[in-house]
Amino acid sequence: MPYEPPVVAPEEAEACRRASAEAAALLADESVRTGKTRLAYVRSYGCQQNVADGERLKGMLEAMGFRITDVPEEADLILFNTCAVREHAENRVFGNVGALVHQKRRNPGLIVGVCGCMPQQPQVAERLRKRYPFVDLIFGTQVLHRLPILLLEQMRSHTRVVDISEQNTIADDLPVHRDGSLKAWLPIMYGCDNFCSYCVVPLVRGRERSRAPESVLREAEQLIAEGYKEITLLGQNVNSYGKGGDWDFARLLEALDRIPGDYRLRFMTSHPKDCTERLLDVMANGEHICRQLHLPVQSGSDRVLREMNRHYDTARYLSLIDYARRVMPDLAFSSDIIVGFPGETRADFDMTLDLIRRVRYNALYTFIYSPREGTRAASMPDPVSAEEKGVWFRKLLDVQNEIGEEIHRSYIGRRLRVLWEGPGKAEGTVSGRTEGGTIVEAPGDPAALTGRFSFVRVTRAMNWAVAGELCE
Ligand code: 5AD
Ligand code: SF4
Repeated sequence: MPYEPPVVAPEEAEACRRASAEAAALLADESVRTGKTRLAYVRSYGCQQNVADGERLKGMLEAMGFRITDVPEEADLILFNTCAVREHAENRVFGNVGALVHQKRRNPGLIVGVCGCMPQQPQVAERLRKRYPFVDLIFGTQVLHRLPILLLEQMRSHTRVVDISEQNTIADDLPVHRDGSLKAWLPIMYGCDNFCSYCVVPLVRGRERSRAPESVLREAEQLIAEGYKEITLLGQNVNSYGKGGDWDFARLLEALDRIPGDYRLRFMTSHPKDCTERLLDVMANGEHICRQLHLPVQSGSDRVLREMNRHYDTARYLSLIDYARRVMPDLAFSSDIIVGFPGETRADFDMTLDLIRRVRYNALYTFIYSPREGTRAASMPDPVSAEEKGVWFRKLLDVQNEIGEEIHRSYIGRRLRVLWEGPGKAEGTVSGRTEGGTIVEAPGDPAALTGRFSFVRVTRAMNWAVAGELCE
């Protein structure tokens, strides 16, 4: 059965286009009168999915006649595209929004907006409304495409506009203002249906929905034609792409890999419960697919994994890793780990240490558990103190640093293919990444090499990178 993506209703898409055109006319008039173009600053917090949303927000603002700036102090519109995954991220946003009160006093015409995952939670939207009266625009992830309608309404009425309705739709073909010219984000699906017990994402990003394969392929072809060298496919759980229709993720990846050109493909994030041997085979046979797999395990304790509602155990996880290594001996793994999940004991944590020593990840993203309102874990007893969790967390970092350094040392003498991304830390050096994601620095001219692939012989290992010499 073909899968039908739930795209935004045609009337709504048309209303967005009309609002965008009206705003553009309004701002063009203003520009003639004042001799100035309004500047917009968009800051995205959190995951790559959010960064990709931020590029679409900027694209829509540009289409409405704003110019994008990196300097918040000079902006006429400041939009915070927020993350709700941990409390720390939220507190930073509240702090940053609060600090705008002075800029708003100096420039009463400044429009301040907060969007993304935070306001999609009703209690957070309420707090923004009550305690931050100078915020003019509040909207959630699910109505991102409605920015032209909401902003036009705000500019006309000069009153606060709020929209945190849930749509669970896909807005294809939004204008995009990409942050780079070398690496591009390509969202293939939105939302999440997994309900891991710690995670707020299903509550803020809604039900899982996939873009049509034709639309993804078209965007990838266009990016490659424009000269992008690395495309990262994005989704909360890319392995469930297509929702059981006749295009699954492995098929999509295979089709993308057939696009001719000199480029790389990456993807994130994979859920171990949905990662198949067929997908690993597609990676192994791919021409452009990086031999890098981000496969978050979260914990090395089967009991904790059950409490987390992850639907796999460590045996299944490790057998996937073993299969992947069998078909791709040089595959680089990375993972996410949560330390201090409610009820986790020292013995559970030690199992996590055992697992990471067994897998030997190239990179780990580690987080101390943060309770999120509305999730199942938030009501679980959590007796371990923050100090104790801190001790475990630092131990995890120490173990991983050691592993990372050992992996880097094992590269000494090897020839690695690198995509050069720009100047290195030291004068006269260039910096890039291998397909496994390792940072490489070498003497060379960034102006000549950036955006190109070439080989390096590794001569030295640091804990954050390797260094080497360019070679044929
Ligand atoms: N507390 C700590 N870490 C979390 N993550 C998700 N939710 C939480 C939470 N409540 C981590 C997971 C996920 C990554 C993106 O963020 O490890 O894979
Ligand atoms: Fe991304 Fe999740 Fe944060 Fe939203 S809450 S920005 S989906 S990490």
